[in-house]
Formats: sequence, C-alpha cells, structure tokens
Amino acid sequence: MGRRWPRIRTRFLWSGIGRHDVDHKEVAMRLIVKFNLVITLAFVAGLIVSALLMRERFVANARTEVLANARIMMQSSDSIMRYTKQEVTPLPQALGHDKFVRAAVPFFAAGSIFEDLRRHYPDYSVRNVALNPTNLRDRPTESEADIVNGFRSFPDRTEMVTERQTPNGPIMSLSRPLVAAPECLVCHSTPANAPSAMIDTYGSANGFGWQPNETVGAQIVSVPLSLPLARAEEAVVHLLLTCGSVFLVVLAVLNLFLYYLVVKPIRDMAKIANDVSLGKPDTPEYERQGSDEIATLSLSFNRMRRSLEGALRLIEGT
Ligand code: HEC
Repeated sequence: MGRRWPRIRTRFLWSGIGRHDVDHKEVAMRLIVKFNLVITLAFVAGLIVSALLMRERFVANARTEVLANARIMMQSSDSIMRYTKQEVTPLPQALGHDKFVRAAVPFFAAGSIFEDLRRHYPDYSVRNVALNPTNLRDRPTESEADIVNGFRSFPDRTEMVTERQTPNGPIMSLSRPLVAAPECLVCHSTPANAPSAMIDTYGSANGFGWQPNETVGAQIVSVPLSLPLARAEEAVVHLLLTCGSVFLVVLAVLNLFLYYLVVKPIRDMAKIANDVSLGKPDTPEYERQGSDEIATLSLSFNRMRRSLEGALRLIEGT
C-alpha cells in the first residue's frame, strides 16, 4: 500500500473492464434518471388507467344519484295526486256542491305545483303529458312525445330512463306510462259525458276520445345531469392532483434514500476502485457501518482490494 504500482501492469490487469477514468457522477446520475423514469412511467400508466376507471365510476354514481332524485320527485308527484284524490276530490260533493271544481282534479294539483317549482328550477320538471291533453299546458314536447309513443309501442313497459342533449347540457328523464282506466273516461271520452262546468273551463276540443286502457300519455320527470357530471369530472381531477402530490413527495423521499443509501456509496466505491486500478497512492479504504447489502459489499470490496494488492506485490516480487 502507499506504493505506486507500475502503470503498464495495472493497465494490463484492468484492460478487460473498460475505460479507466469513468465519470462516476455521470454513472450515478444515469442510475437516478433511470430509476425516476421507470417509477414515473409506472405511476403515470397506473394513474391513466385508474383515472379512466374512476371517471367511469364517478359518472355512473352521478347518474345513479340523478335517477334517485328523479324517483323522489316522481314519488312526490304521486303523493300530491293521492292526497288530492283522497282529501280534495270528495270535498265539493261533501259540501253539497255538485259542480266540477278544477282544484279537485289530481292532475291539475300536481301540474300546478310542479309548474311553480319549474319557475325556480327551470331545468327540473315533473310533467303529466297526454298526446291529446285537456289542458294545453300538458301538450308534450317533441322528446316527450317520443317517450309517450315508446310506451304506446311497448305496452309492457312500466318505466323508461332516457337521456337527451339540450343547449343547457344533458337531461335525464324517468318516465312511466299513463293509462286511461275506465273510470277516467267520465271526463276524457266525449264532451257530452264530461261535467258541463269542465267544458266551460276547458272547452270541448281537447282531452276527449281517450279509449279504455289506452296509453294516453306519460308521467315524465326530468333532471339535469350537467352539474353532477361536472362534479364527477372535478372529483377525478382532484383525486389525480392528490395522487400526483403524494407521488412527488414519495419520489423525493425515494430519491434521497436511493442517493444516500445506494448511489453515493457505489459512487465512492467506484471512485476508489478506479483510483486503485490506476495505482494512485494513499487511496483510502471505503468504510461503511451497518449490515445492509452495501456495507457487506464494502467489506468484500476492501477484502478484494487487499488481496489484489497482495497479489500485485507478489507479481512485482517475481
Ligand atoms: C272529473 C273529471 C276527470 C276525471 C274523472 C279524470 N280527469 Fe284527467 N283531467 C281532468 C281535467 C280537468 C284535466 C286538466 C287538468 C289541468 O288543468 O291541469 C285532466 C288532466 C289529465 C291529464 C294531464 C294531461 C291533460 O289532459 O291535461 C292526464 C294524464 C289525465 N287527466 C289522466 C286521467 C286519468 C288517468 C284519469 C283516471 C284515473 C283521469 N284523468 C280522470 C279531468 C278528469
């Protein structure tokens, strides 16, 4: 030790290994760059797949939620009509008033209440439409008529969930068919059968000619989807940002660990190996405490170096 080895001999000994002056910094950087590249690629690939799956899940959840809201609205319409039928419809007769009273018609009560709601929430609606309505307010729009005709074509259908695009975004509709039971025909078959006070209010042109058990219309609840869908997208972006931030912190910690536990010791050892191979005098031994793989490697490395130096001294002595 401490002696300069003959250049020519060391060159010969290490000739199979490659360049003598390896840039250790560069090697270490390359290792870190490779590590970061692989980890980042794996993370980004995982993130893309989970973002797509999450988006699908969130959007499906948004739709389920909107449909649940539509069901609540439909139920409240049913409740209003049931209340009107039970509590209000018998009232005029009970009070000895045998004239037709509009307020006692369940469809009028529900229609009026939900029309008022629509003034506050224009995109939400609960409508009882008929292809030939008594009240022209209940005339179906084009998309509502499609729903009614859908029920007329498939009489077995009891419910339909549809979605349509509007200038204000997508709207989901939950619909049920409205079938004219025989008792409904008192007011919906011919004007002659209907209460004259009803004709006075509505005229005799509309809402008649319905057939028994005919699907005359549909109860259609429409709820906008744009806000819940936007929220679902927002939730995905938030989750991605959170995952990205956690990844950056983890990556930074991993880099620190990799640098101090692996890259730096290897770099130091490689530099010592290089110096030893070039026969530089006073190259210190690499020391590392502990029992991890690098510490074991450093022990083996020092032992190998000592053996090598001993072997070289023997060769020189011959
Ligand atoms: C006492 C007469 C009367 C009876 C009985 C009656 N309706 Fe009506 N119905 C009306 C009136 C009046 C309207 C219009 C209400 C309004 O102005 O919103 C109406 C409206 C409707 C509407 C909304 C579309 C439209 O025509 O404006 C539907 C659907 C409807 N009725 C179905 C039925 C069914 C189904 C029954 C049987 C369960 C029934 N009606 C029984 C008088 C009656």
